[in-house]
Amino acid sequence: MKRHLVGPVEELLPGNRSVIDVEGRKVGVFRIESRYYALSNVCPHAGGPLCFGDITGTTVVGEEHYDLEWVDSGKILRCPWHAWEFYLATGQSVGDSRMKVPTYNVVLEDGNIYVEV
Ligand code: FES
Repeated sequence: MKRHLVGPVEELLPGNRSVIDVEGRKVGVFRIESRYYALSNVCPHAGGPLCFGDITGTTVVGEEHYDLEWVDSGKILRCPWHAWEFYLATGQSVGDSRMKVPTYNVVLEDGNIYVEV
């Protein structure tokens, strides 16, 4: 695993992302409030540019089984092609436990953001 420079911390503002090329792989690095996440930009459904999707929440069936609840706001990345959803922190698919996007460790050091791929 090698460490790759993403850029200065101050250039990735909260709520933003940067998609970088790391040895031929596209990796999306996200800053959500004070947390950083990095995921593969390749959606496991059909190869869409996952990291260009919306950061959102999702709906689940409520306790009464006839209502829907909005949960996990700001924790989910929705693919722009067919709206499959994945947790930013783990890469786990919201709707299919067999699907997962590769995630990478993000390191902050000396005012810079690095991703370990
Ligand atoms: S390619 Fe991402 S949901 Fe289809």
